[in-house]
Amino acid sequence: MHAHSPSEHDLPMVVADKETIADGIVRLELRACDGHDLPSWTPGSHIDVTVGTDVIRQYSLCGDPGDRTTYEIAVLKEHQGRGGSAYVHDRLEVGERLRVKGPRNHFALVAAPSYVFIAGGIGITPIRAMIRSVGFGSARWSLTYGGRSRSSMAFREELVSVHGDRVRLRPQDEFGPIDIGEVLAELDDPQASVVYCCGPAPLLEAVTVACGARGIGVHVERFMPSAAPKGSEDEAFELELARSGRTINVPADRTIVAALEAAGVTVPTSCEEGICGTCETAVLRGLPEHRDSLLTDEERVLNDTMMPCVSRSRSSRLVLDL
Ligand code: FES
Repeated sequence: MHAHSPSEHDLPMVVADKETIADGIVRLELRACDGHDLPSWTPGSHIDVTVGTDVIRQYSLCGDPGDRTTYEIAVLKEHQGRGGSAYVHDRLEVGERLRVKGPRNHFALVAAPSYVFIAGGIGITPIRAMIRSVGFGSARWSLTYGGRSRSSMAFREELVSVHGDRVRLRPQDEFGPIDIGEVLAELDDPQASVVYCCGPAPLLEAVTVACGARGIGVHVERFMPSAAPKGSEDEAFELELARSGRTINVPADRTIVAALEAAGVTVPTSCEEGICGTCETAVLRGLPEHRDSLLTDEERVLNDTMMPCVSRSRSSRLVLDL
């Protein structure tokens, strides 16, 4: 099975606890409604949560992977968002039920002798789970954690009290933006180190560029899509659905998902921006034009899977496993 294959798990869950842990951030504990163990997960995983009536949002699991009874997430109130985070903050109550899918991992921790974790704001959530797993093991690691101000930085006291000076807090109002050059300059053996960064897009860009210039391996988690590849104008193409044998025309001004929807074929979607993996579909023939922010370069060249919410086709006909 492909690493990005959608999970089969559809989990009715209940909110077991809700608390404010920093300015504009609440932490939720979720449990299975039937009290059973939850699917196992690895650091970097996220779940899709349906909040309110139909808003689906992705949240990184930030708790203990060894605890099979509880999923822990932290939710930032986004004033520009689609209403999901406002619902969680203002209306969601302990005891309320939620539909959850997953967990899935697009940000998995690879084995390495040395890690550099860089987190910005709510981007601390997957990093907290990674640090719990790397924690007191033999790998060297450090965390540089930035945020608007100390009071906006979730888990800051816990991280410092448990891990001491491996954790550097860099609130922007005291230190300015994170000095990535300084963080990387401290590495004894840059080539043996792996950088994991999660946070706002400008931080990810800066870390990616700085690591690229020094030949350091870097993994970033985007909460916003990267820019779509520039190129020719979009063109229409034909889509063949292998399971039903139907052929559908995808016009230049419609996505594959929208063209399928118009033909009565529903593909599950969530972000519709190529960042969550919910719509991932196997490609049987033809050449997709990948426009997602998820697949790695190695995965792209295999052309055996795609995100039809944003990606198109380079060949005049694309055959999908639908
Ligand atoms: Fe999120 Fe397509 S719906 S990647």
